[in-house]
Amino acid sequence: MDIYIDTADLDEIKQAAALGVLDGVTTNPSLVAREGVDFHTRLREICQVVSGPVSAEVVATDHDGMIAEAEPLIGIADNIVIKLPCIEEGVRACKTLSDRGVRVNMTLCFQPLQALMAAKAGAFLISPFVGRVDDVGGDGMEIIQQIRQIYDNYGYETKILTASIRHPQHLVQAALIGSDVATCPLKVIQQVMKHPLTDVGLKKFLADWHEAMAVLQKKEPALT
Ligand code: E4P
Repeated sequence: MDIYIDTADLDEIKQAAALGVLDGVTTNPSLVAREGVDFHTRLREICQVVSGPVSAEVVATDHDGMIAEAEPLIGIADNIVIKLPCIEEGVRACKTLSDRGVRVNMTLCFQPLQALMAAKAGAFLISPFVGRVDDVGGDGMEIIQQIRQIYDNYGYETKILTASIRHPQHLVQAALIGSDVATCPLKVIQQVMKHPLTDVGLKKFLADWHEAMAVLQKKEPALT
């Protein structure tokens, strides 16, 4: 499963990229607004750090406006993916861009039929928001499961990008279901590598090692 980071914060992206396991980046208008920087400049900076897909979302809500906004974004770098909302105009714009060979990420997906329409329109990625569904008492992961089943039934190649991830358990479930990608905040990427038993085990290994080396050094100084 590919792992993307969900942020427009360049330092966070650099931290995640330094792990060597980062496959891409997703941004959205709220994340970019939080940074208080020029959108295109920030996208250029992100694309210098990450060579995998970088999703850039339009804010227009009509077909022509979406295409007009997408044009300069596409020119920023080869790895830019245009992010469009799962609304009627978004599906139309997805079809227009996909027919031209532009990769599209259909976002704000909350039910499997939106994902079906996105796939039919040639989307490269579909982004169901599991955390936001859970937030209102639903089961976000059930939607991932349903989309997986539908895409497999008909051989759609659109990749499922599990989004709005809140904790590592979401990642486990996404991977078990067969989500192609998961995008998460830096905090979750860092949590994934933490386990108290790993820390306890490592501490014990090192203590045993140093204790044994100290004993050996006293007995056989030449060997240590
Ligand atoms: C995905 O592309 C979205 O930017 C993101 O995952 C939304 O997550 P949120 O619900 O935590 O805002």
